[in-house]
Amino acid sequence: MRSLKHMLALVAVLAPLIAAQPAAADETVGSIASPDGRLVVTVLIQAEGRLAWRAERDAKPLVKPSRLGLLLTNAHQLDGGFELAESQHSEHDETWEQPWGENRLVRNHYRELALDLVQPVPSGRHLTLRLRVFDDGLGFRYELPEQAALPIARISDELTEFDIAEPATAWWVPAGERLVLEYPVQRTPLAEVGLANTPLTLRTQSGVHLALHEAALVDYAAMWLRKVQGQKLRAQLAPSASGAAVYKHGAFTTPWRTLVVADSAAGLYESNLTLNLNEPNQLGDVSWVHPGKFIGIWWDMHLQHSTWSSGPQHGATTANARRYIDFAAANGIQGVLVEGWNIGWDGHWVGSESAFDYLHAMPDFDLDAVAAYAKAKGVQLIGHHETGGNVARYEAQLDAAYALCERLGIGTVKSGYVTDAGTAQFANAGGTGTHFGFTESQEGVRHYLHAVQEAARYHIAVDTHEPVKDTGLRRTWPNWISREGARGQEYNAWGDPINAVDHEVNLVFTRMLAGPFDYTPGVLSLEGANGRKLNSTQAKQLALYVLIYSPVEMAADTIENYARWPASFQFIKDVPTDWERSKVVAGEVGAYAAIARQDRRSADWYLGAITDGTARTLELPLGFLASGRYRAEIYRDGEQADYRNEHRFDIVIEQRIVQAGDILSLRLAPGGGAAVRFTPVRN
Ligand code: NOJ
Repeated sequence: MRSLKHMLALVAVLAPLIAAQPAAADETVGSIASPDGRLVVTVLIQAEGRLAWRAERDAKPLVKPSRLGLLLTNAHQLDGGFELAESQHSEHDETWEQPWGENRLVRNHYRELALDLVQPVPSGRHLTLRLRVFDDGLGFRYELPEQAALPIARISDELTEFDIAEPATAWWVPAGERLVLEYPVQRTPLAEVGLANTPLTLRTQSGVHLALHEAALVDYAAMWLRKVQGQKLRAQLAPSASGAAVYKHGAFTTPWRTLVVADSAAGLYESNLTLNLNEPNQLGDVSWVHPGKFIGIWWDMHLQHSTWSSGPQHGATTANARRYIDFAAANGIQGVLVEGWNIGWDGHWVGSESAFDYLHAMPDFDLDAVAAYAKAKGVQLIGHHETGGNVARYEAQLDAAYALCERLGIGTVKSGYVTDAGTAQFANAGGTGTHFGFTESQEGVRHYLHAVQEAARYHIAVDTHEPVKDTGLRRTWPNWISREGARGQEYNAWGDPINAVDHEVNLVFTRMLAGPFDYTPGVLSLEGANGRKLNSTQAKQLALYVLIYSPVEMAADTIENYARWPASFQFIKDVPTDWERSKVVAGEVGAYAAIARQDRRSADWYLGAITDGTARTLELPLGFLASGRYRAEIYRDGEQADYRNEHRFDIVIEQRIVQAGDILSLRLAPGGGAAVRFTPVRN
C-alpha cells in the first residue's frame, strides 16, 4: 500500500513530465459524525494523492468532494502525493461562560478527527488536517508542524473548496471591491456568486440553511470565496503587498474554515460554532470592559450640520461635549462618543496624507476638562481614533494614545480605517516609509489584533470601524467589544444609495452571523442629510436594538431629536445591551426576523421584530418567558404606518399582560418593526 501511494506521490511531483495516468479511485482516509449523527464529514485521498473532503447530512449529499490543500511560492505545493500517517478521534463537551454576549453560557460539543498526512516525496513533509464536527456544522483547519522540510511557508493561495450539492440561493457581499465590506447584501443563485466575502449564507432547494465563514483569523490573510464552476466555491486569500498572501515561519495553523448547517434561518443565527472554534479568554478578568449604550457628537456631523474639522461649525467643542454628557447623565445613557476632538481632521485625512494626532486635542476642546466633567457626572467618555487607513501612523502612537485614554478614564475607543480597499498604509520593514495594502491582508489582520492587545494592556475595549471581518476573536480577547464591517446607519445620512428597506433584515442572517455590529440604530427623526428619508418606520429603529446585537450600542440620533420623541426614546433608555440568553422566535433570510433576549441583569425579556418592504403579521409564541405573568410594553407600527410616506412616524405604544403560553400577534408595516419589553408582574 505504502509503496503504491509512494508511486502516486512521485507521479504528482513529476506530473508535467509524465503522460496522464488512469484516475485512481478515491480512498477514504477518515470519517467523522456530529454528536447527533446527522452530519458526517469524510476526508478522501483522490487521484495523484490529492486531498478532498465531502459531507452528508441525514445521509444525503451536502458537500460534494471538494479539494483541500495549500499553494506555496517557495516550495512544492501542499497538494498531491499525500498518504495517511496517523489519525486520531476524540470528543469534547464543555459549557463555557462569556463575560458579555448574546448568551452567558455556551455549549461547545463536537467530535474531532485529526489526520496526520505526509508527502513522502519530495521530502517527507507533514500536514495535519483537523476537523471538528458539531450538531450545527463543521470546521477544519490545516496545521503545519515545525519541520526541516518546510522551515518557511509562503502561501500564495488555498485550494480549499466547498462544492454545495443541492441547488441553493445565496446572500452575499462582494469581496476585493473598493468599499471593502460595505455593500448591500445581494441575493442570487449560488451559481451566480462571483468573489464573495464571508459569512456567505445559503438556503438549499430542500430548505437546509448554510453559512460559510472562517473562525480565529489570526496572523493570516482573510478568506474570500470565489466561484469556480457550478456551485463550487474556492478559498481565495486576500492579497498582500509583497507576493505571497501569507508568510509563515516554523509551525503554524490556518484559521478554521467553517460551514454552519441548520434546518432554519433561526438555527444559523443561534449557532455558536464560530465562537467555539476560537481559543478561550486570554485576558482573564475583564470587568473593566463595559457593555452599554452611548450617544455622541456624531450624527450631526454625518448630517453636515457640524464638522469634524476645525472652524465655526466644529462639533467637538467643550461646550457641546458637556451638553451631551448632561443629556447622557439625565437619561441613564452610559457613554458619550466625541468625534473630531483631535488634531488631524483639517484637509485631506485619508491614507498617506493622514496627519492624525491621538494625543492632542483641537484648541476649542479641553480634553482634560471634558474627561473630568464626564467622570463627575458618572458618564464614560468614548474615545475616537480615526486613522484614515494610515496604520503605520497609528501604530507609532498606539502606546501613548491608549495610555492617555487610561489616564483620562476612557474605557472604550472607537477606531476607524476609512480608506478604499488596498490603500491602507503599512510601515515598511526597517521603519522608513510605508506601502499600500489591504486591511484584510495578513499584515492588516495582524494590526487589528495588535491594537486590541495593546488596548487590553491599558484596560481599554475597542470598537473597530472599517475592520477586518469578525471571526469570533472576542472569545479570546473580550476587549474587542464590537465592530462595523458592513453598511451601517451612516449610509442613511449620505450614502448613494441609502440603505434599502430590506438591508437590516438581510444583515440579521448574514453579517450578524459573524458577531457584534456597531450599526448605530435609533435615528428617530428618520431623516438623513438634505432631508433624505430613511427606509424605516420609527418602530423599526427601536426593534434594531434587539436585532442587531452589539454590547456597545449607540443611540445615534442627536439629543435634540431624542428630546422631540420622548415616548419612543423611552425604549432606547430601557433596552440593555448585555444578555443572559437569546432566541430567534421567527425568521426567514432577507424577509423578516424576530429575536427575543433576556437581560443579563434582570428577569426582563426584550423582543425585536422587523420586516422588509412587505407588511406582515407575525404570530410569535412567547414560550421563551419563564412561568408567571409579564407586562409587555409594546412599541409597534400604527395602523397607517408605512416607510414610504409621512406615516412612518406612526407608532403605537401600549401595554398587555401576557404569559409563556401566549402567542403575541404583531403586525409589521412595510419597512416596519416592533419592540417589546417584558417585565414580570409581581402579585
Ligand atoms: C466612518 C465610521 O463608520 C463613522 O462612524 C465615523 O463617524 C467616520 N468614519 C469618521 O471617523
